[in-house]
Amino acid sequence: MADEKIEETEEEALDENEESPAEEVEDKEPEEATEEDSDKDDEIDDDLEEDEGEGSLEDLEGIGPATAKKLMDGGYSTIKSVATAAIGDITEAAEISEAKAKKVITLAKEKCNMGFESADTLLIKRQDIGKLTTGSETFDTLLAGGMETQAITECYGEWGSGKSQVAMQLAVTVQLPPDKGGLGGEALFIDTENTFRPERVVQMAKGVGIDPDEALKKIHVARAYTSDDQMLMTEKAAEMVRNSDIRLVIVDSLTSLFRAEYVGRGTLAARQQKLNRHLSTLHKLADLNNCVVYVTNQVMSKPDMFFGDPTKPIGGHILGHSATFRIYLRKSKAGKRIARLVDSPNLPDGEAVFKVTENGLED
Ligand SMILES: Nc1ncnc2c1ncn2[C@@H]1O[C@H](COP(=O)(O)OP(=O)(O)O)[C@@H](O)[C@H]1O
Ligand SMILES: [Mg+2]
Repeated sequence: MADEKIEETEEEALDENEESPAEEVEDKEPEEATEEDSDKDDEIDDDLEEDEGEGSLEDLEGIGPATAKKLMDGGYSTIKSVATAAIGDITEAAEISEAKAKKVITLAKEKCNMGFESADTLLIKRQDIGKLTTGSETFDTLLAGGMETQAITECYGEWGSGKSQVAMQLAVTVQLPPDKGGLGGEALFIDTENTFRPERVVQMAKGVGIDPDEALKKIHVARAYTSDDQMLMTEKAAEMVRNSDIRLVIVDSLTSLFRAEYVGRGTLAARQQKLNRHLSTLHKLADLNNCVVYVTNQVMSKPDMFFGDPTKPIGGHILGHSATFRIYLRKSKAGKRIARLVDSPNLPDGEAVFKVTENGLED
């Protein structure tokens, strides 16, 4: 019963949050980000200057040099980054009023042609969607060809169900050329549970016929120790991905640190708000760079619970609304795994059975 109540509270918190995105103001991450990471930032800033001639921030009406500098210091170096920012973040970074932040974001969106789009334009954008093979044909079929770019795919399941195996497998298959089901790209791996294993990548690379040394070089791993780390790394990832070959971003696990840090009912709203912001960064990442974003979410069966789904994902309804594709993973007999597609926007629900072997994912 207690769990049921918590789920409800989470849902309420979500609704509130959706209605007033401006309430995200309280976080100070963007500023901290620049200070902490200033060493490595030089490199990235250079890259950004070459960024598709989107014009400088001062091209936005109402942004003078001082405000432009504040925005840059806060990590908003392109018009596009302003266009996709939350109002609260801009208010804080530029130290301007909410009304002005709204106006600036709207102007930035116009400059990037980011308002309403006609459905035919959307269809064209969707034609860029790439599919990334999981290594298992049945699993790919369930996903109509593989994991999609421009989307977040969430795998949830119990401990040992294979969520991290899928993650490492994708980090390898993304390197395959498109005619072999890959995206000819590299992977960025945010590891929150210290379960990334290069040795395992070596096995999987051999499994798909890629030189293991090459495969390892193309996977960029960062270990996150706190949810703040995790969020900063994701924001940083958005910059890194821009001028790179990175086509896959993994967060394994998405929820573990949030869950460990935000314990008890009083903290749910804060956790939710932060997790929402994190997911929104990930969505942008997937969208702007035509990347696959793969996240994992651990669930525990609760045998003492009499109501509801015993394997409700942690993070509750938040993720339910935020990931584009959700896959429930579970162990079956003889090392087999069952993946069930849940609530896809355009694919039928269904199940696929695959195996995890030394070579990686197989039918
Ligand atoms: N080298 C391997 N060969 C075959 N199976 C493996 C290998 N390494 C890991 N596994 C399987 O993967 C499981 C761990 O899955 P993992 O993805 O880490 O779970 P989680 O869902 O908790 O992330 C192990 O219990 C084992 O069944
Ligand atoms: Mg894992």
